[in-house]
Amino acid sequence: MRWLVTGAGGMLGSDVVAALGDREVTALTRAELDVTDAAAALAAVDGHDVVVNAAAWTAVDDAETHEGAAFAVNALGAAHLARACAATGARLLQVSTDYVFAGDGSSPYSEDAPLAPRSAYGRTKAAGEWAVQALCPQSWIVRTAWLYGAHGPNFVKTMARLAAERDTVTVVDDQSGQPTWTVDLAAAIVRLVEAESPFGAYHGTSAGETTWFGFAQAIFAELGLDPARVTRTTTGAFPRPAPRPAYSVLGHKTWQRAGVAPIREWSEALAESMTTVVGLTT
Ligand SMILES: NC(=O)c1ccc[n+]([C@@H]2O[C@H](COP(=O)([O-])OP(=O)(O)OC[C@H]3O[C@@H](n4cnc5c(N)ncnc54)[C@H](OP(=O)(O)O)[C@@H]3O)[C@@H](O)[C@H]2O)c1
Repeated sequence: MRWLVTGAGGMLGSDVVAALGDREVTALTRAELDVTDAAAALAAVDGHDVVVNAAAWTAVDDAETHEGAAFAVNALGAAHLARACAATGARLLQVSTDYVFAGDGSSPYSEDAPLAPRSAYGRTKAAGEWAVQALCPQSWIVRTAWLYGAHGPNFVKTMARLAAERDTVTVVDDQSGQPTWTVDLAAAIVRLVEAESPFGAYHGTSAGETTWFGFAQAIFAELGLDPARVTRTTTGAFPRPAPRPAYSVLGHKTWQRAGVAPIREWSEALAESMTTVVGLTT
């Protein structure tokens, strides 16, 4: 099986390439394949059996004022890859996001819940999902959220830095989600594809749930610091250009149906990830 990973220089893409180990993999960074170029996408996909699209415009706030540019990557880029996969017989795994949902629920979003994005980023990612489903029936959509890993800026690294700079750190306690280690998601993606799982939507997030405040406290605890140094606030106190979903907890039923192990509990993954993500020596 010949794999192609797009966005291979990104936080998730780097760990997908690592998870593929000694399998036959072409890893293309943005400099090597710009997914907004349809002809380049077709040429790159040719000769591969599976494409993992980890390329994306991920600047959520900037997308509010640059929706067209975000759409070019997240929707048109996905469409170019989907067309190329359909034309060459490759399967496509499209990475998507919790932001495609309204985020105002109170029980975990199922894989077939209606898409109702509230932000520009969410709209462009939802358009990417629709394009992939319409153009490439042999495809998986894997929605993830609250990612952290060694190869990009993220909340875990930010908390570790702030812990060294400040006595206290104030974090919102009214947004719930599932912190997810890119290493866990990458391994789950490989499992999903290699099990020849039914095509369709999967939620690539950890089990369990917490708030950003709870996540921050857990990070402090893992760093050997007093979690009481994290204080709570509300989303309203921190206005941002893009609205943040209050409830981003995703259900994991389709993994069970496919007979593939979903991702483990978020707190267990956090404990194991700290050395890799923030370079802990103790
Ligand atoms: N991070 C999260 O918490 C989170 C949450 C939900 C979903 N996701 C999804 O997870 C996936 C991976 O995200 P990530 O966290 O790994 O983000 P990331 O580190 O920003 O990786 C995205 C990669 O895509 C590249 N890229 C941007 N435009 C491109 C283009 N036109 N052609 C080819 N590559 C392009 C970026 O390159 P440059 O850096 O050079 O721009 C970057 O290397 C995305 O689909 C994202 O929507 C992430």
